[in-house]
Amino acid sequence: MFSYPFAATPCFLLDLGRPVAAAASLLRADGATYAWSGGVGARHSVVAFSAICAHKLAYPTREVSFIRFQPSRSPTSDGNVIHCCADHSVYDPAAGARVVSGPAPQPLAAILLDYDPERDELSALGTVGAEQFDAFFRKYDFKLTLDYGAGKARLPVGATTVVRELTEYCRQTIQC
Ligand code: FES
Repeated sequence: MFSYPFAATPCFLLDLGRPVAAAASLLRADGATYAWSGGVGARHSVVAFSAICAHKLAYPTREVSFIRFQPSRSPTSDGNVIHCCADHSVYDPAAGARVVSGPAPQPLAAILLDYDPERDELSALGTVGAEQFDAFFRKYDFKLTLDYGAGKARLPVGATTVVRELTEYCRQTIQC
């Protein structure tokens, strides 16, 4: 997990363990299409997506997360998916987080990454797809103010952001 582009907007950083090809045409709920550039890193296997569910904006809080990467098979998916247990939206992180099943109307927004092989460093350059940050800040204004302080949730992350395991980022992850 890491915060980007704002202090309170969480993202998944995933190494899928195999090269991940670009996706030429992903569909937003408003009908627009966009391209996603695929995996980066030495093996082209690293991807990043906003962890704000495209259905009803469930997201990993400090207390609990309904949305998480699910590597193994489950009754509702074949594994290697991002699964939101709130209403069972399933996304494929190897295909730009397109919707595999469930009520989500569009993919998760992708975080555009750049990889510096000499320094073995990743940089987040921006977002691609349907950002939901305005709706997120509207919906959770009260909670985000309690968690981060007045006006601080929407501060840009700045030059660096910390990556942590989901288990360190929030206390309880809902399995489904
Ligand atoms: S909020 Fe994620 S599936 Fe409904």
